[in-house]
Amino acid sequence: MKVAAGLSSQHTSEQRIRVRAGAASYEVVIGAGLLQRIGSEATRILGGPRCAVVADETGAALFAPPVLESLRVAQFEPTLVTLPAGENSKSLERLAIVCDALAAAGLDRSSFVVALGGGVIGDLAGFAAAIYHRGIPCVQVPTTLLAQVDSSIGGKTGVNTAAGKNLLGAVHQPALVIADVETLATLPSRELHQGAAEIIKHAIIADAALFDELTQLSDEGSRSPALAALIRRNVEIKGTIVERDDQDRSGERAILNFGHTIGHAIERTGEYRRFLHGEAISLGIAAACEISVRRAGFTETERAKVLAALDAFHLPTRLPPDLSREAIISAVSADKKFERGQVRFVVTPGLGTARLTSDVTMEDISRAVHSLQVPNP
Ligand SMILES: NC(=O)c1ccc[n+]([C@@H]2O[C@H](COP(=O)([O-])OP(=O)(O)OC[C@H]3O[C@@H](n4cnc5c(N)ncnc54)[C@H](O)[C@@H]3O)[C@@H](O)[C@H]2O)c1
Ligand SMILES: [Zn+2]
Repeated sequence: MKVAAGLSSQHTSEQRIRVRAGAASYEVVIGAGLLQRIGSEATRILGGPRCAVVADETGAALFAPPVLESLRVAQFEPTLVTLPAGENSKSLERLAIVCDALAAAGLDRSSFVVALGGGVIGDLAGFAAAIYHRGIPCVQVPTTLLAQVDSSIGGKTGVNTAAGKNLLGAVHQPALVIADVETLATLPSRELHQGAAEIIKHAIIADAALFDELTQLSDEGSRSPALAALIRRNVEIKGTIVERDDQDRSGERAILNFGHTIGHAIERTGEYRRFLHGEAISLGIAAACEISVRRAGFTETERAKVLAALDAFHLPTRLPPDLSREAIISAVSADKKFERGQVRFVVTPGLGTARLTSDVTMEDISRAVHSLQVPNP
């Protein structure tokens, strides 16, 4: 991955990173005041003139006006498509609504989609772009911390069905990613914190020094431009891993699932209402660290450091007493990663590294889930 730290006179913290994934190559621009420049950034690489800006109601009210204006100034003809906020919008029904809206607005094969919002809109609008006319470009404009450091990078798109979360989807790399850190100013703290869970995951699997930079996040005053460097570091980590395994085939990309096997089971046991994704992943990270201590040589000191980092962002490391441990363990064993008795689990042998192993047993998983009620060391 080529990294060129762009310096502009106005926004000294602006960052530009190029991600190369398979045949795709795209720029990730991170900085302040970028919503107003989407049109000029898009005009360099995209056709048009028609395009659609897909947003949820919250994102549309906050951010659509400058985005639409900037696209119009650049001679594009944008149509705004709005959906209700929340995970329920990642459904086949809402996907059909988006695709119908693209058709009604006259989008053709030279058109493009702008996914303006968090991971829900990124996944949904990204998937619509992946299948509309068998694939038109998508510009990801992430407005949550989780989407800026994680979901907008890597091209995974999709919707949920009754049978499973993200069951239907496609790998459709974005044509461009524009992360305006100023959008995070309105993000509720709980949403900011869940994004920190993915940053902590990145630190564990690839960059131990990142822990120290996390302190920037806890300082409310530096929510915006100072965050650009931190977000860039996370984009680099995810981008580098995606570049090695863009289709998620070789197993290298699997390390991004650190904390997610047990985390997903907790999310499911909480019926996707009780925990935000990052909160469930926080618990999954705590459990994966416990397993790593016993199976991979991770030290108790390192584990304590991770738990302290999660705690600093008000992320849970202990399960609520009323949540069924057995239901979580059943959900793990039902997970596709455990098919045919083959247990694939990501462990960390030490901060900054991770590997996929098949040594972890259901007994280890069970022990780790039960360990989530023990007070932190
Ligand atoms: N594709 C991937 O690689 C990938 C990776 C991780 C997660 N995901 C998916 O991402 C989704 C979660 O994403 P999310 O946490 O961003 O959720 P989200 O998109 O639902 O956003 C969370 C909430 O914040 C609001 N919001 C968004 N930006 C805001 C802003 N700047 N100010 C105020 N409010 C704002 C939204 O309206 C929503 O209510 C899940 O569906 C998950 O499966 C995908
Ligand atoms: Zn995640």
